Amino acid sequence: MVDWKNPPRLFIPGPVKVNDDVLQQLARPTLGHRGKEYTQLHGQTVDMLKKILFTEQNVFLSTSSASGIWEAAIRNCVGPDEVVLSTCCGAFSDKWASIVESCGRGVDELKVDWGKPVLPEMLDEKLATGKYAAITIVYNETSTGLTNPVHEISAMMKEKYPDVLVFVDAVSAMVALPMKFDELGWDVVFASVQKAFAIPPGLAVAVVSNRALEKSRNVPAKGYYFNFELWAKAAEKNQTLVTPNIPHIMALNYQCEKLLAEGMENVWRRHKEMGDFVRGWAKEKFELFCDERYASNTLTTIKNTRGINVAETINAIQQKHNTIFGNGYGKLKEETFRIAHMGDITLDDLKELLAWLDDEIG
Ligand SMILES: Cc1ncc(COP(=O)(O)O)c(C=O)c1O
Repeated sequence: MVDWKNPPRLFIPGPVKVNDDVLQQLARPTLGHRGKEYTQLHGQTVDMLKKILFTEQNVFLSTSSASGIWEAAIRNCVGPDEVVLSTCCGAFSDKWASIVESCGRGVDELKVDWGKPVLPEMLDEKLATGKYAAITIVYNETSTGLTNPVHEISAMMKEKYPDVLVFVDAVSAMVALPMKFDELGWDVVFASVQKAFAIPPGLAVAVVSNRALEKSRNVPAKGYYFNFELWAKAAEKNQTLVTPNIPHIMALNYQCEKLLAEGMENVWRRHKEMGDFVRGWAKEKFELFCDERYASNTLTTIKNTRGINVAETINAIQQKHNTIFGNGYGKLKEETFRIAHMGDITLDDLKELLAWLDDEIG
């Protein structure tokens, strides 16, 4: 029998474990969202996010999950007659391509096999046609546990296609993997807070370049809730367009203070150490699903080479230890399983989980 009031410790790739001190931030007395206190909270939080994400451009807080920004990037920054090149290398990048289409924009898919990265030369070949206004790419594919070489791609984009907008889903990457927004020359990047920020779900962080914001002014029918122009106007006053999820912003403020105190290079290094540790175990006991050179430092997708019953193993660990890890995502459900190592998960947590897994699978 499960009991939601006694929830399992989470090693699924989001939502991830949230520490008690962070949870307590969500229990603070609320504020009026047009009052001076909120304005201070918002301003401080955005200022810290600018340092964390290495940007002087527009940082927005969206009371939505990240999927809202999938749609917002397209509705705001792609004209009705323009075509997007969507890179597809797993369940989430595939989904984003379908969302571009559902927003009524033209889309071509650049597909690579799941577990393989999107490489700059692949994009170069397509972009050379001059057909595309923007590209979409997922920094870290949460289904396959793969990190795309976004730094190499960004260098190529800046050199050869500076007018093509770059939209990046950093949902399972933001803060855990190296990212300096302004240097990378990206136009929209976003994440929801239930991943490496280690906050319960309910808020997304987005950065929008000045040029993407400018462009959005001429894109018609952007709607209201996810309208970048209206977001920017509210942000000038350190507010949001609509009543935001204030408890989450308090928790975000708290987490940002901790990230800055640790230093981003150290945060990235800590995630690499966790990634190395889980990869070491996975390679000894199974295999990695993706090409190891691109294996993610926020989660590991493990190929079920021993044919274990993934669902039963997850269930057994939950029964014995009130802890869960992730099954495979979508078409990889039984073929793989996933272990998250991001946010406030620690090496000690991972050692404990893997020892239990060893006991279970022998
Ligand atoms: C890479 C990626 N993109 C998008 C999403 C969707 O995020 P949300 O559920 O916060 O809308 C997820 C969720 O796991 C994800 O991993």
